[in-house]
Amino acid sequence: MTDRRTDVLVVGAGPAGYTTAIRLGQLGIDATLVEADAHGGTCLNRGCIPSKAIISAASVAHEARTSEEIGITAEVDVDFEQFTRWKDRVVRRMGKAVEKLCKANNVDLVEGRAVFEDRHVARVLDGDGTELERVEFDYAVLATGSRPVELPGFEYDHPSVLDAADALSLSSLPNSLVVIGAGYIGMELSTAFAKLGVDVTVVEALESMLPGFPPALVEPVESRAGELGIDCHYKQLAQDWRETDAGLVLETESADGQDQFEHEAEAVLVAVGREPVTDTMNLDAIGLEPNNDGFLETDDQCRTDVPHVFAVGDVAGEPMLAHKGSAEGEVAAEVIAGRTASFADRAVPSVAFTAPELATVGQTVQEAEDAGHNPIQGEFPLRASGRALTTGHTDGFARIVASEDGRVLGGQVVGPEASELIAEIALAVEQELPVEALAETIHAHPTMAESVHEASANALGRAIHTLNR
Ligand code: NAI
Repeated sequence: MTDRRTDVLVVGAGPAGYTTAIRLGQLGIDATLVEADAHGGTCLNRGCIPSKAIISAASVAHEARTSEEIGITAEVDVDFEQFTRWKDRVVRRMGKAVEKLCKANNVDLVEGRAVFEDRHVARVLDGDGTELERVEFDYAVLATGSRPVELPGFEYDHPSVLDAADALSLSSLPNSLVVIGAGYIGMELSTAFAKLGVDVTVVEALESMLPGFPPALVEPVESRAGELGIDCHYKQLAQDWRETDAGLVLETESADGQDQFEHEAEAVLVAVGREPVTDTMNLDAIGLEPNNDGFLETDDQCRTDVPHVFAVGDVAGEPMLAHKGSAEGEVAAEVIAGRTASFADRAVPSVAFTAPELATVGQTVQEAEDAGHNPIQGEFPLRASGRALTTGHTDGFARIVASEDGRVLGGQVVGPEASELIAEIALAVEQELPVEALAETIHAHPTMAESVHEASANALGRAIHTLNR
């Protein structure tokens, strides 16, 4: 006996899950979206959106404090409680918008945790484990996301040991913070807190920050981090911590195990990666188990080994990025609707909202060479950009990578608005456009976007505002 029957049960209302459900609704398919927490998932409630709110607010405060050169001086007072109210309003507003969009597209929203009973039935439980209803479905789409990896000894139940979500919901600013991990979260939040006046120390196991991004892109971020007073320690592994009157002491060890170090701060933020969530829904009952990395394996149609079950977003594998999850969600919905669709990962942009921002899409020169190309490349330094000069921020460059026959394979941008500039290059990579398409498109002057235009022209040996090589 079931309470509800649906064509498609979507589990998890983050960007991957709600996109799947909305697209299914648009295609006239009956979808039920089950969410145990809040609509919008980690991205909207505890990740991308609140972190970009704090990054924007911190930049406003920092710019106001550091603009003497352009003739502006200001006494800046950060009212963190007011900031928090504003940030929470932004999050609430977006959560309501997701809910409205789902309803407008005839998606049934169910609050609770979906737990599979067999291949076509799930029970929905409340926080206490009480059954709210049973849902029978033809297809299931699993979009249960990811959670922060917990370092042994650094359990998040202590008020001074923070994960990213805790750091984004602090009620007041700490005077000092030690951050474990110089990846996306570590560097984005270190930058924001440093700009807000917090004394930030970063401890990273590897030999540089933002591993995975090309070193030339990371260099301006590393140098700006130094200017912001962020004290970075590389090749150190967090081992343990202890409480003191002033806060805590983080104990670390050099990567070779030879040396021990201590770092004092009021709180510690642990940002050592995220892991897929697969243990909340009794996957056994639906005939699935995660691979050795903990992810649910899918084909290019986002289908798992069980033909009527799809997986999208963080739970379906790297990169754990909201926009990759949304794109997969659309594919899964189209495939369920019987349309032809497949997910290709050649143009998934990666952006770190650091200072300056850095962004990549497609292949680097090295990756193009490894793939058997004899690539051409073009570059444009932001110090030659009129628009960059007028903002006072000229660190960085745009680079275009193209195949020997001129097809855009990738691009990298570091500098102000890199997160926006990468979209044009992503279009070129996705659509396999010739580099002439970028070089011959008129870009408004004076804009940051001209740097993509100039880098493309440079790849063809005809840039006007930089020397061609
Ligand atoms: P991450 O994988 O980016 O970085 C974790 C860092 O921690 C690595 O550099 C690693 O070497 C270091 N580490 C691991 N164990 C350590 C230890 N014991 N001591 C010192 N360092 C240690 O993971 P992060 O920053 O937690 O982010 C998780 C995921 O969230 C990212 O992979 C990304 O997919 C997503 N994300 C994306 C953002 C964006 O698109 N702008 C922003 C924030 C997160």
